[in-house]
Amino acid sequence: MKNILVTGGAGFIGSNFVRYALSLGRDIRIINMDALTYAGNLENLEGIAEGSHYRFVKGDITDADAVDRLFEEEAIDTVVNFAAESHVDRSIVDPQCFLKTNVLGTQVLLDCAKKHWKLFPNDKYSRDYKEGVRFLQVSTDEVYGALGKTGRFTETTPLSPNSPYSASKASADLFVRAYHETFGLPVNITRCSNNYGPYQFPEKLIPLMLNNCIQGKPLPVYGDGMQIRDWLHVSDHCKGIFAVLEKGRGGEIYNIGGNNEKANIEIVKLIIEACGGDEGLITYVKDRPGHDRRYAIDNTKISTELGWAPEYSFGQGIAETVKWYLDHKEWTANIVNGDYMNYYGKMYGDA
Ligand code: NAD
Ligand code: DAU
Repeated sequence: MKNILVTGGAGFIGSNFVRYALSLGRDIRIINMDALTYAGNLENLEGIAEGSHYRFVKGDITDADAVDRLFEEEAIDTVVNFAAESHVDRSIVDPQCFLKTNVLGTQVLLDCAKKHWKLFPNDKYSRDYKEGVRFLQVSTDEVYGALGKTGRFTETTPLSPNSPYSASKASADLFVRAYHETFGLPVNITRCSNNYGPYQFPEKLIPLMLNNCIQGKPLPVYGDGMQIRDWLHVSDHCKGIFAVLEKGRGGEIYNIGGNNEKANIEIVKLIIEACGGDEGLITYVKDRPGHDRRYAIDNTKISTELGWAPEYSFGQGIAETVKWYLDHKEWTANIVNGDYMNYYGKMYGDA
């Protein structure tokens, strides 16, 4: 039995990962630790029963005592760290909480893993660890910065983060690397491009546009709308993470991306078409400060080494996603009825 600590498993990708991992029917137990910030939502985990394969724990990854207790109680042998402040726009308003969760939280997890997994914990020179332990840091392509019109990010592209969010994720990656180099901790880092799919918080481009479109509200496009993102269905991301956990070489970074570049305005028009909306709703608003122009992932390493490939075509993925949000209006309504509207008002005013 593998005892996997999934952090941030009540968020968008984490909850999809929990669902996917449990659906495989492997001999695993998932302990999901989530602080339930504005982005954490237990409705994302509806239908997943607590028992021998799953436990939810409300807790903060920056709380070293709580993390330590969990490692002890559950004999954790694997960590998949999704927990993060994840929204670039929020990081422009409040950078410090990104530093706290994304950097300090990762370092707390690394330290607990080192303490519990080292065979000779009191020997600072020992690099021997228990059999089969692994720390996987879920990172992002944003750590590489912005691309020009050509080229794609490889795992050796220098880090050049531009937003407080991506700076915090790059810093966390460097801590993960340092724990591997200095202490020999068995780690992996995955760096994925933009995800879409069910359970994504409606502050992010696709669910925000979908929700506004359904309600006939303006669709706020930043700048000229020609920024490019490389979109991947969340289930393909989860499969990539699982492949790295099972087969990834220790200490290695794996980019995950779907070779699926789209300009933001294309995405917005696709959503309008799928919802039967009105293009007149498109409203160009002031650009995001420091807005990265283009991201694109070179996924050669994960596909050739681990045999991973995206299964979703974008057409199929977006059609299913639009249907999911249309079928789950209540899920979005429950979020939108909460604190979200305060955020929306501050962010977009009347737009
Ligand atoms: P999300 O914002 O939907 O979920 C984050 C989760 O982390 C929430 O459940 C939240 O409650 C939890 N959390 C936040 N602070 C915490 C803390 N201090 N302790 C414990 N839990 C805490 O984010 P997401 O989009 O699912 O992203 C998950 C991870 O994947 C992040 O690390 C993000 O950087 C990375 N990532 C996201 C994308 C994307 O397109 N969304 C792409 C690549 C990488
Ligand atoms: O690339 C991976 C990253 O993708 C992840 O690391 C982040 O956690 C995730 O939030 C996402 O970051 P982006 O900034 O690319 O995602 P977002 O959905 O916020 O925006 C996508 C694009 O759409 C971006 O160019 C900004 C633009 N945009 C976004 C919003 C919310 C708009 O034009 N209008 C909007 O209202």
